[in-house]
Amino acid sequence: MIHSLAGAHVLVTGAAGFIGAALSHRLLAEGARVTGCDNLNAYYDPALKHARLEPLAAHPNFTFHRVELSESGALGALWRESKPDYVVHLAAQAGVRYSIEHPRAYAASNLNGFLEVLEAARETPVRHLIYASSSSVYGANTKVPFSERDPVEQPVSLYAATKRSNELMAQTYAHLYRIPVTGLRFFTVYGPMGRPDMAYWGFTRALFAGTPIKVFNHGNVWRDFTYIDEIVEAIARLTPRAPEEEDEPGRVAPATPHRLFNIGNDTPVKVDEFLAILERLTGKKANRIDLPMQPGDVERTWADVSALRAAIGFAPHTLLEDGLRRFVEWYREYHQIR
Ligand SMILES: NC(=O)c1ccc[n+]([C@@H]2O[C@H](COP(=O)([O-])OP(=O)(O)OC[C@H]3O[C@@H](n4cnc5c(N)ncnc54)[C@H](O)[C@@H]3O)[C@@H](O)[C@H]2O)c1
Repeated sequence: MIHSLAGAHVLVTGAAGFIGAALSHRLLAEGARVTGCDNLNAYYDPALKHARLEPLAAHPNFTFHRVELSESGALGALWRESKPDYVVHLAAQAGVRYSIEHPRAYAASNLNGFLEVLEAARETPVRHLIYASSSSVYGANTKVPFSERDPVEQPVSLYAATKRSNELMAQTYAHLYRIPVTGLRFFTVYGPMGRPDMAYWGFTRALFAGTPIKVFNHGNVWRDFTYIDEIVEAIARLTPRAPEEEDEPGRVAPATPHRLFNIGNDTPVKVDEFLAILERLTGKKANRIDLPMQPGDVERTWADVSALRAAIGFAPHTLLEDGLRRFVEWYREYHQIR
């Protein structure tokens, strides 16, 4: 079995997003043709989405379409016309905290939008459909590290509930229509061109601006941080490897071509340590305000990546300090901070 992406055609949803843009670069570098789509919404500054798209648009093998996922049939039409070999579905309304105040945005993009993805896959078959789930599906679980085999019945945010629903919807479509599909539970992805709504970005912004930094649960929060290049590495390796055998790693149930993988670093870091690293890298002292736990947040994430390693011979391992150094360097340049 050849697992090469050279000459393949990949449809990437959420291509203007943090992970989608980085993945598109990687797929192009492997010799693939990429059709990207995104609705370029204003959940965070669309200028950053345009900045991510600009270098991609200059590539002869990249085309971009503005598509609203939840609009019935819109993605299906693009899918039918472009006939991709593989689809990597990354478009979603992300963010845990925002889901407390804007629940309908999650139903539209993550539930209706995901149904559009599955319906398109049913109508126009592809070799492999990959979709983004999230570590947040582990919710209030306390057994660590989190394994794909653990029960995930206790989401603590609507965002998590929509991602878990995606896994169940994918399982149903894989069962009914034999669609080869793989769900990826990403653990706190960070790096250059990242997401302004995430803590590493917010902390860096506050350190440079000298504004207060809210630290929730009095600093008793651990996150398994995953560097962007390694998320992309794992997705690029998995894309040409559709589920094949009943007993392969990550299989949800033997009789359906559906797998789930954690993609994390297997090294949770406490928020105090994470903030101390950013203080060192920015050369600034944090003006810290300690607060209780926020609704929707979980105390700890920690990925068991043994299934991923068994499937693709790779698992993320970048040291947080090295990854954050690259982020802070990029952040200074992007915001022209001397
Ligand atoms: N970054 C992380 O730490 C992380 C962790 C777990 C899971 N994920 C998941 O990975 C995926 C990619 O995340 P990201 O960090 O790149 O987020 P992102 O917000 O940067 O990218 C998502 C993109 O999807 C687009 N989009 C959203 N709703 C859409 C809709 N209805 N129609 C069309 N386009 C739409 C957005 O405009 C955005 O460009 C998401 O599914 C997210 O939930 C991310």
